[in-house]
Amino acid sequence: MKYSGALNIRDMQVLASRALPLPIHQFLEGGADDERTLARNSRAFDDWALTSRTLVDVRTIDPSASLLGYRSSLPMMLAPTGISQLFHRTGEGAVARAAKAEGLLYGLSTMATTSIEAVANTQADRYFQLYLFRDRGLTKALLERAWASGYGALCLTTDTPVSGNRERDLRTGMSIPPKFTLRSLASFAAHPRWSLGALGNRTFRLANIIDHVGDIDAGGVNVIDYVNQQFDRSASWKDVEWLRQQWRGKLMIKGPMAAADCALAVDSGADAIMISNHGGRQLDGTAAPLDYLPAIRDRIDDKAQLIVDGGIRRGTHVLKALALGADGCSIGRPYLYGLAANGEAGVRKVISIFRAEIERGMALMGKTRIADISRADVQHFEDFARGGRPHAAAQTRRAQFSDAVG
Ligand code: FNR
Repeated sequence: MKYSGALNIRDMQVLASRALPLPIHQFLEGGADDERTLARNSRAFDDWALTSRTLVDVRTIDPSASLLGYRSSLPMMLAPTGISQLFHRTGEGAVARAAKAEGLLYGLSTMATTSIEAVANTQADRYFQLYLFRDRGLTKALLERAWASGYGALCLTTDTPVSGNRERDLRTGMSIPPKFTLRSLASFAAHPRWSLGALGNRTFRLANIIDHVGDIDAGGVNVIDYVNQQFDRSASWKDVEWLRQQWRGKLMIKGPMAAADCALAVDSGADAIMISNHGGRQLDGTAAPLDYLPAIRDRIDDKAQLIVDGGIRRGTHVLKALALGADGCSIGRPYLYGLAANGEAGVRKVISIFRAEIERGMALMGKTRIADISRADVQHFEDFARGGRPHAAAQTRRAQFSDAVG
């Protein structure tokens, strides 16, 4: 199968698995511990049924949305992912160019292998994802660079006081940059295209914090060790208030899932919340972002935009999230599959698959605009037994769940 023949995100996932040496592929796909949360992220969508409405005039479908102050061609954005050059030598620049071409918002990670300024040159609508470092001077310098380079929004990731337990990486001996160890040599040799690209591109460096950590190309630093050393474990909501004062653009908090934390985010001045468990890579055993969404929307009302992040693999996933109260969704691994399969064109292919699926899904739901999608367009499967009325026991169970997370 060639990337141009891929029908869906699953096909792109297969293409990525063929393109990447094992340690890199495992790093991309892996989650924490037993990967229960990773699996739940996508499965949560299966608990909900979309309502199809017929005989509605759907000649013109407009799937565009307003996210973080930007007009987006779809109710979606690209999540920040570090070290994208691992997956294709063209890295973050290629992803940003694809985002620009497709009219989507791109999130550049603090841990990127391309600089804030170089990504700004792509002219893509963009936000900068920040990790709070122990060194506040470094944090401030990053903020100033992002603002000077025209990033309209800042995204603070809050679910990483320590790195999650990613056993796949421990088994493969994954390090950044990748080391050609005896164990991994066979897999690198079996993927000559990737390996030659990597050899010709010896710049696996954390481009935005390089002055502070030095050139890790030389030593082979394990990113997990690095995270544990540098990220500020003492960070609290006071720091969000501090950040709010430092940053004039939109502020999004990435990582809260408890409704109580989302309320604190609003109180601290957040304009948006990305409900996220880091794609199942941090605390294993949590529910999916989608599971938490209804309680969060109830709790914060319309005081902030809500972005569902994690497990989105189909256009119908996006439509279900919107019906349950999200303003948009974000994707991580799906666009990295496209990047691994074929650089910028591969990322565009992934976005075009989502676009076709969202537009088709809207037509079949009888919706012509994103704003028309509401809670009435989705129903929990447990409620069907009662002819559409919420099943009492199921309702109690869901209320208890909301209380627990609230
Ligand atoms: C991530 N994610 C992430 N998040 C973040 O805030 N900063 C980062 O540097 C990274 N890096 C990163 C690398 C890789 C390889 C992956 C897969 C993920 C998490 C990312 O932003 C997002 O939350 C998840 O990827 C969403 O889940 P899906 O779409 O991958 O299921």
